[in-house]
Amino acid sequence: MSAPPDLPEIVARAFDVSRRAGYVSFCRNETGRLLAALAATRSGTMAEFGTGTGVGTAWLRSGVRRDDVRILTAELDTTLATAAAEIFTEDPQVEVLSADWSTLLDKGPFSLLFLDSGQPGEVGVDRIVDLVEPGGIVVLDDFTPSETWPPISYGRVDTLREEWLTDERFTTVDVMVASDASALIATKH
Ligand SMILES: C[S@@+](CC[C@H](N)C(=O)[O-])C[C@H]1O[C@@H](n2cnc3c(N)ncnc32)[C@H](O)[C@@H]1O
Repeated sequence: MSAPPDLPEIVARAFDVSRRAGYVSFCRNETGRLLAALAATRSGTMAEFGTGTGVGTAWLRSGVRRDDVRILTAELDTTLATAAAEIFTEDPQVEVLSADWSTLLDKGPFSLLFLDSGQPGEVGVDRIVDLVEPGGIVVLDDFTPSETWPPISYGRVDTLREEWLTDERFTTVDVMVASDASALIATKH
């Protein structure tokens, strides 16, 4: 047995900020490593809806391999946005906006979009599709693993997941990132 890989330095800094802010709604490390792996394939502009204190943003940033890639992230809560912005003050490739994610609507299309505002009703395919460039990737997390079709969560059909998995404008996969968590990765045609 060996120890798991260390956290990237930027992610460790984001955890420090979260701890100081008393904030715990950040993405789990399994999802973070997925974000970093996907970010490493991207050029152009990536975006995140719901920054929290910047943990997911930091994971995305840790994967970036090109100097011309930008990450825009929007957080509704001003205190959280200010805390997250602290992590990236010296980084011209990341911009934290203290704003509703709708502020990003005219800043796309994005090469990767992490939909993490915790408002499932707001992120249906029709609302999102034009924000993503062809070949662009959308990531949604915080699903409960389900082996049934349609996917079931808390005794009900998970209609958001069903919608993303069946929409013909995307090829989408439901990936278990841990025994109790899954994420969707959707690639736009
Ligand atoms: C699950 S947390 C985000 C975690 C973060 N993406 C991470 O990976 O560490 C959801 C965040 O979305 C924010 N939020 C909710 N509605 C929003 C909106 N309409 N626009 C921007 N942020 C929003 C909440 O304030 C909350 O901090």
